[in-house]
Amino acid sequence: MNQNLTMDTKTAIFGRRTIHAFNSKKVPEKLIFDAINAANQAPCHKLTFPWRFYSISATKRNEILKLTIDIKSSRKSLSENSKKILREKCLNPSHLIVSSQILNKDKLIEKEDYAACSCAIQNLAISLASNGVSIKWSTGEIIRSKNIYKILNIDSESEEIIGFIWIGYGKKGPEISRPLIKEIYKQI
Ligand SMILES: Cc1cc2nc3c(=O)[nH]c(=O)nc-3n(C[C@H](O)[C@H](O)[C@H](O)COP(=O)(O)O)c2cc1C
Repeated sequence: MNQNLTMDTKTAIFGRRTIHAFNSKKVPEKLIFDAINAANQAPCHKLTFPWRFYSISATKRNEILKLTIDIKSSRKSLSENSKKILREKCLNPSHLIVSSQILNKDKLIEKEDYAACSCAIQNLAISLASNGVSIKWSTGEIIRSKNIYKILNIDSESEEIIGFIWIGYGKKGPEISRPLIKEIYKQI
């Protein structure tokens, strides 16, 4: 049992928000462990357990920052201020967890496995949200670059990186207007 869920589920689900600007306050390792444990409780068809999570060290994060700058500056030259913003984005969050999916030759299983990985990431997010910690799931160009697989020593033949999960504290953005229930739910 996860002993550290401190809010009710409704408050955690409704209060969870992606944050984009993190401060450098550290998240206790116990909360990260509990969140990974929560992720591991997600459902998966045929018990494939396709999710993998990697906690990224400070050294590797600096390598990722360099790769981010290389990718972005290959398109247009970056000002010192843009580099500073990228540095903060990459180094400020307390943790970076890379999430990957074990690949499968069967495309239907692979599709269902991506769904299962998404459930796992949401469990992770809700576990953290229930402790006042936010995440941002990002799927920018870097997660598809060959070099990220090299930096992280992940075999792209057997695993696909499906997201960078930035974890920490920061200001939540403005409210998002969501579709009305009558638009997404119908009796037929
Ligand atoms: C699969 C997935 C990929 C995402 N990729 C990015 C991303 O690359 N960059 C980003 O800023 N946000 C990304 N997000 C976060 C969404 O933009 C965010 O969830 C959305 O704005 C709704 O905000 P909320 O999470 O606060 O409800 C991603 C979310 C999901 C579920």
